[in-house]
Amino acid sequence: MKRFRNLRINQNTRDKNAEFSLNSDDFIYPYFVVDGKNKKNIIPSLKDVYQLSIDNILIDIQECIDLRINKFLLFGVLESKLKTEFADEAVKPNNLVANAVEAIKQKYPNVIVITDVCMCGYTDHGHCGIVEGDTVNNDKTLPILANMALSHAKAGADFVAPSSMMDGQVLAIRELLDKSGYKSTKVLGYSAKFASSFYGPFRDAAGSAPSFGDRKTYQMDYRVSQQAINEVTADIEEGADWVMVKPAHTYLDILAKTKLKYPNKKLAAYHVSGEYMLIKAAAEAGLLDEIPAMFETLYAIKRAGTDYIITYYAKKAAKLLIAN
Ligand code: PBG
Repeated sequence: MKRFRNLRINQNTRDKNAEFSLNSDDFIYPYFVVDGKNKKNIIPSLKDVYQLSIDNILIDIQECIDLRINKFLLFGVLESKLKTEFADEAVKPNNLVANAVEAIKQKYPNVIVITDVCMCGYTDHGHCGIVEGDTVNNDKTLPILANMALSHAKAGADFVAPSSMMDGQVLAIRELLDKSGYKSTKVLGYSAKFASSFYGPFRDAAGSAPSFGDRKTYQMDYRVSQQAINEVTADIEEGADWVMVKPAHTYLDILAKTKLKYPNKKLAAYHVSGEYMLIKAAAEAGLLDEIPAMFETLYAIKRAGTDYIITYYAKKAAKLLIAN
C-alpha cells in the first residue's frame, strides 16, 4: 500500500508538496478604454470590471503595480457613431488605444503594454474583418490589422495581439512592423481562438457583438484539437513571439498540448468573460465560494502549462496571493 495521505496531512505539508505556484507575475489584466475624462462606466455583464478613461487607467495601474501586476491588455471601446464599415478609427494616428499606450508608457515605462488588434470593436457591423456579402474577406482585412498594429507600435506598445483569427494576420503585422522600423515590437498571437459562447459578457463590455451571423467562419470550431496545434504552428512560423489559447478554462487540453509541443514558447491563456462570470454568478447564487473557486480555476489553467493568464480576476487574486 502506498500512503499518499501523508502528502496532504495539513496545510503546511500540502504547501510543501505543491508542484505549482501562482504569482502576480503570471497575470495580464485587461482594460476597456473609453474616451473622455474621469470615466468609470459599470459593465453590467462583467461584474467588478469597468470601462475606464485614460486618466483613470493611469490611477488603476498604480494599484496593479502595488500588487506586482505589470502586464496589461488594452481594448478600445468606441461610441457607436464612430464605428464604420472599414473601422476607420482603428487606424487613425492618435487613436484611442494609441493615446492610452502613450500615456501609460510615459508614466510607467516598465510595465508591459499589450494591445488587442481586431476590427470588431470598430466596425458598424461588429465583425472582425471586412464584410463582403455574408462573409468576411480574409486578405482585404490584413492590411487594416497591420496598420492598426502599427499605430499601437508607434505609440510604444510592447506587444500587439491580433485576435481576429484571419489567416496570415501575424505575418502581415510582422512584415509591416519590420519595414516601418518597429522590429522590437512583439506579437502575441491569439493563435487558437475558438468560436465560443463564453465571450458573451465581453461583447457587452466592448460593444462588439456582430450585428448579423456569427464568428464561426473565422474562429475555430470546438470539435477540433489537432487543428488548434496547426494554428499555433502557423503563428510561430509567421513570427509570433508569444502564442495564446482562448478560452482557457474550457480548453485546458489545448493548452496542455500546445505546451507539450512548444515547451520553450511563452503560452498565454485567456480566462474569458463568460468563464469569469460563471464563477461570479454561481457564488452570488450561493452555490460555491468565490475565492477558492477562483484559485482552483486559475491553478488549473496554470497547471495545464500556461505561462501567462489573461484574467479579470488578476487584481483580486494578486491581492490574496500577496496577503498570504
Ligand atoms: C475581439 C475579442 C473578443 C474577446 C477578446 N477579443 C470577442 C470576440 O471574439 O467575440 C473576448 C474576451 C472575453 O470574452 O473576455 N475579437
